[in-house]
Parts: sequence; C-alpha cells; structure tokens
Amino acid sequence: MAVVDPVGERFLYDQVGQLVVAMIDNQTLQPGDRVPSLRKLSRQLQVSVTTVMQAYGRLEEQGFIEARPQSGYYVRSRPAADPQVPRKTRPYSEPRPVAVGDTVAAILAATKQPDVVPLGIANPSPELLPVKALNRALARVAGERSLTSIDYTFPPGHAELRRQIAYRTAALGCEVGPDDVVIANGCTEALSLALSAVAKPGDVIAVESPAYFFVLEMIERLGMLALEICTDAETGMCLDTLERELDRHPVRAVVTVANFHNPVGSLMPDAAKQRLVRMLAEYQIPLIEDDIFGDLHFGDARPRIAKCYDDDGLVLTCSSFSKTLAPGFRIGWVIPGRYTDAVLKLKRTMGFSATPTQLAVAEFLRSGGYDRHLRRLRSAYRDQVQRMRYRVAQAFPEGTRITRPQGGFVLWVELPAGVDGMELFERALRRGISIAPGTLFSPTQKYRRFIRLNAGMLWNDAVCAAVDTLGELVHELAAGQATA
Ligand SMILES: Cc1ncc(COP(=O)(O)O)c(C=O)c1O
Repeated sequence: MAVVDPVGERFLYDQVGQLVVAMIDNQTLQPGDRVPSLRKLSRQLQVSVTTVMQAYGRLEEQGFIEARPQSGYYVRSRPAADPQVPRKTRPYSEPRPVAVGDTVAAILAATKQPDVVPLGIANPSPELLPVKALNRALARVAGERSLTSIDYTFPPGHAELRRQIAYRTAALGCEVGPDDVVIANGCTEALSLALSAVAKPGDVIAVESPAYFFVLEMIERLGMLALEICTDAETGMCLDTLERELDRHPVRAVVTVANFHNPVGSLMPDAAKQRLVRMLAEYQIPLIEDDIFGDLHFGDARPRIAKCYDDDGLVLTCSSFSKTLAPGFRIGWVIPGRYTDAVLKLKRTMGFSATPTQLAVAEFLRSGGYDRHLRRLRSAYRDQVQRMRYRVAQAFPEGTRITRPQGGFVLWVELPAGVDGMELFERALRRGISIAPGTLFSPTQKYRRFIRLNAGMLWNDAVCAAVDTLGELVHELAAGQATA
C-alpha cells in the first residue's frame, strides 16, 4: 500500500480515507470485511493512530464503514452491493434536428446561486485547482511583459503556448508541432470552429447517444442534423453500428468524446480509436474528437487520442484546460489537420483570444508544475467519483444503475423504472441541489430516466447530504409511481 504524502495538500486523514475507499471500490475490501485495525494502518502508513481514527470517523459518517463494539470497523453492506452499469443505449436511428430547450440555461443559472449544491454542470471545485500559482503567473506576465500582455495575439495564438500543447500532444505518440495548433476560447469554441470548418447547415453529424449537450446545442445553432449512435457504458461509441449508419446516411462528420465521455464516462480502447480513424478515412469523413477529459485518467496510462492514428489529416482534436486548470481562463485549442486554414479563417472572424491568460498558462506549463498538479487532481477526482458512486448506491432505491468511469468526474445514473429525471431535476432544485436531467443529452429527448451528476466537487458533508436528499426524492418518486 502506498504511504500517504505528508506534504500533500489534502488533510492526512482524507488521504488515509481515500486509500480505504479505493480498496472498497476495487473490491479488495468487500461488504462485511473488517478494515485494517487503527494500529496496523497507522504503522503501515506511518501516520498517527489519531489520524487513522479521524479517517475512519469520516468514513463512518459517510456510510462506507461501521464500528462494531469491541471488534473494530467493518465495510458496510449496501442494498445494491455493486450497482450495475447502464445498458448499451438504443437511440433512434434517423438524423434529427436538435431542440435542446431552456433547461441548460436553468442549470447554468442555478450553478451560480450561492446556496445551491452544483451537481448539474461538469465543473471542478476551485479548491482543487492551482489558483495561487496561476494568479502568480498572471501577475508575472502583466508585470514583466506589460506591453505584450495588453496587445492582440493573432490566431493561431501565442507561440509558446502552442509549443507547450504540441509538446504534450506529441508525447502521446502523435506527429504534431506548434504550427498544427490553433488556440481557442475554451473547448466550446474549439468544437464550434471544428464543426463549422467541416460541415454546413443541413449536414448530418453523427454523435454518441447520449451526447454532451453543448455539442447538441451547437448542432442546433448551426442548422445541422444529429444522428445518434449507440454507446456502451464501458467502451463508448458502437463502431459496428456507426459503420452500418455510414452506408445508410450521408454523414458529414463524426463527433466523439472517446476518452471519459460526458456523460457516460466510457473510454474507447485505443485499438477502437484506430479502427474508427481508418473507417472514416475510407469514407473521407472528418472526425472531431473532444479530448477535454483525457488527462484525467484513473489508471496509470494516459489513453491516446484518435489523432495519433490520423494519416490523412481528417481528425480535428479539440480540448482545453477548463477541467484541469482554470475554466474561467478560457484557454482551449484545436488541432485541425487538413482543415487548419478553414479553422484559422473562422477564428479570425469569430474573435481573437485574450492575451494575458494565454501568456500565463504558457508560463505555468513551462515552469513544470503541471504534471505534479495533474497527479494530485487525478487522485482527488478518482476519490470523489468513488465516494459519490458508493453514496448513490446506498441512498438510491434498488433498480438504480450507475456508470463506473475510469477517468473524468461525471456519473451517469439510470433511475428505477417510472422515475422521471426532469421531475427529479425540478424537485431537487427546490431543495437547493442542481442536477442535469438525462433528456438534455439527446436531440430526441430520450433518457428521461437518467440524470448526470458532477463529482468534480470536493467531497464534503454538503455534497454527501445532497446525494442523500436526491436518494430520498427518488424513493418518493418511485413510491408515487408504484401507487399511481
Ligand atoms: C465534453 C466537454 N466538451 C467541452 C466542454 C466545454 O469546455 P470549455 O469550458 O473549455 O469550453 C465541456 C465542459 O463541460 C465538456 O464536458
């Protein structure tokens, strides 16, 4: 077992708790098992008995373990001992116009209300981000390069930042240089640039089902049609289905979040990414890959990106630092392959990106703290996802299914039969909790029985209580359904 990091930023007892939660999650410790004694764990981890006691106290409050008199602590059994993951989706297989509606705006508005627990948007807690270091970098560039920092930075964007992004991308095994990178205002603009560069109104865009709702809204705004492709909770977009659909419909582009999909959390194996790139190359169809969660893997290895297999320049890779550094800095990028000129032209007319945050992020990356920060962040997200998953399994009624993501920080929850996610969204908001109802993630308003939960928030009593309240509400709705 790893020894905890005494200089880590999280409290020691939290780190100890994290190790025990990981053991429960990977089933090294099973319901009914005795957890290591206070003395044993304190010796093994080289921390005080009091620290382990504090850790166990928190885990008991959070429902992971229970104390038995004169006997020690035991892993609590759960109603759904290991909840199943949702089944492969079965979307409607004709291209559709998209009408997302106003729910997204309501979720965004709720997120900023101070007394609402924001489980509705996929957003990290600011406490997890290197706020001081970024602000120091911002102050340094404003001081040392005051004239440059208020000047325009023309597309493709700040050269050092592009070099840093190219360096990190090349380390995944992709042939990418600084001139292949175009800086954008977050991944949202990167996706918008990519879509507009490859398709026009009326074109059919194949997307995963469910799909990230801003992509659906973008397809709506651009007057394109969405073709939903079924998705597996573990391995992502179903490529056999996609291949069949390519023969049935004039698909103009495919959009995928292959690494830790939002909302499903699936990870497309690298071999499947290679197959996808080859398949699309045969049809000469561009692939827009959104890799915003790629750096947030829970396992040891960072998954590769489809770009690594792209010999034809047909892959447009989009990403940003919004989930890892600073969503408000709005630093994203697109690596558009053969569409670089088209993307640059669009970027010039859609608006240049702000200079100070480009300089500050370049400075932060160059100073070398990013990988260390990512290691801590990954372990925090993994812990938060495990805790939230466990709590949902305890608090929600039987029949609930929950994804088991291997990275990122969202959970996709299938509610028991008859429980409506939209109704739950409204009731939860009245109780001060925002969630994302499943209907947002489909142009055909499918997924009424689903919700997406954000586990990017620091796990604390308020988040834990919010999950319990959601559980109560789902029980109520399920009971109402049973008596209806
Ligand atoms: C899959 C996915 N792509 C893109 C974005 C938007 O990222 P940004 O804030 O960098 O525009 C998000 C944000 O939640 C996301 O989840």
